[in-house]
Amino acid sequence: MRIAIFSTKVYDRTFLERANRERGHDLTFLEPKLDLVTARLAEAFPAVCVFVNDVLDAAVLERLRAGGTRIVALRAAGYNNVDLDAAARLGLTVLRVPAYSPHGVAEFSVGLLLALDRRIPRAWSRVRENNFALDGLLGHDLWGKTIGIIGTGRIGALVARAFRLGFGCTVLAHDFRPDPNLVAMGVVYTSVDDLVARADVISLHCPLTPQTRHVIDAAAIERAKPGFLLVNTSRGALIDAEAVIVGLKSGKIGGVALDVYEQEADLFFEDLSDEIIQDDVFQRLLTFPNVLVTGHQAFFTEEALTAIAETTLTALTEEEAGRISPNRVSAAIVAPPPASAETR
Ligand code: NAI
Repeated sequence: MRIAIFSTKVYDRTFLERANRERGHDLTFLEPKLDLVTARLAEAFPAVCVFVNDVLDAAVLERLRAGGTRIVALRAAGYNNVDLDAAARLGLTVLRVPAYSPHGVAEFSVGLLLALDRRIPRAWSRVRENNFALDGLLGHDLWGKTIGIIGTGRIGALVARAFRLGFGCTVLAHDFRPDPNLVAMGVVYTSVDDLVARADVISLHCPLTPQTRHVIDAAAIERAKPGFLLVNTSRGALIDAEAVIVGLKSGKIGGVALDVYEQEADLFFEDLSDEIIQDDVFQRLLTFPNVLVTGHQAFFTEEALTAIAETTLTALTEEEAGRISPNRVSAAIVAPPPASAETR
C-alpha cells in the first residue's frame, strides 16, 4: 500500500523501513506536520501515517478524503488529535497502536519523579562544575508516601505496581474500570477528589477526553496536599498550566515533572535552540527550580519504536487485504461508560 508518512524524523524512517522489509509497503517519508496546508501532499495516497501533534480535525480529514485517502494510521496510542466523528462520517478508517511497550512510558514516569524529587538534573550540572555542595538537593523517601494515579490502563497499572510493590507506597487510583489485579496488591480505588486531597504525588495516565481535560485545575490544586508533586507523561491538556504556575508561585505545589504540555505542538520534536519561544506560559514554567520538563520522550525506546513500526504496518497490511484490524479506533469504542459521570 502507498503510505504517506507525516512528521517523519530520522528515527521514524529507520524503524519503519526496518519493519517494512518483510511487508513491502510503498513508504513516502514527509517531514512536514499534517495540517490543512500539507494535507495535499497525501493526494492519491490510500493511507497516511501520522503522529501525536499532526492535526486531524474535520477540515483536514475532508481534504484527505477528497484526495483519495481511506486510512489514517496513528503511530501512537493516544488519538485525541483525531476528530473521530468526522472520520466516521467520511468513511475513513482510523488505526492506532494501542499497546506498544507501556513499560517504557511507565518507567520514564517513575524516573521523572525521582529526578524531580531528588534533584538529579541539578546535582549533575553542579558536579560538572566541581560544586559538590548538597544544599538545595534535599529530597524525600518515596517509601510510605501516598501516590495517586489517575488512569490505570496499560501504563498507569505498571506505574501503580512499581510504586506499590517496588517502593512500598500507598497507592490510590482513579479509573472507571478498576483493575482487580491492582486491587489484589493493595491499590485502593477512589474518586478524583479524594485522590487529589490525599496524594503526596499525583501521576496522570488517563487519555485526554472532554472529561479529563484540565483534571488538574485551580480547584484541584486548591484541594491538594501542600507540597504535592505532579507528574504528567500522558497528555498536556490534562493540566491547566496557568493554574499550575499559580500553585508553584504560592508554594502549594512542591514540584512538577512534565513530558507533555498542552501547547506542545508548536514546540516539541523540533530543535528550537536558536528561536525565540513565544509561549510565555511554557517559558515561565521553565524558570522554576522545581519544574522538570522533557519533550514528549517517554515512548522513546528501542522496543517501543520497533513495536510501533511493526504494529502500524501490520494493521495496514490487514486493512489492505480487506480484513478489519483490531487496531481500529472508532467513536463507539472510545466513549466512556455511563458511570464515568463521577469522573472529573
Ligand atoms: P489505556 O487506554 O491502556 O489506559 C487508559 C486508562 O484511562 C483506562 O484504564 C481508562 O479506563 C482510563 N480512563 C479513561 N478515561 C478516564 C477518566 N475520565 N478518568 C479516569 N480514568 C480514565 O492507555 P495507556 O496505554 O495506559 O496510555 C495512557 C495515556 O498515556 C495515553 O492516552 C496517552 O495519552 C499517553 N501516552 C503518552 C506517551 C508519551 O510518550 N508521553 C506514550 C504513550 C501514551
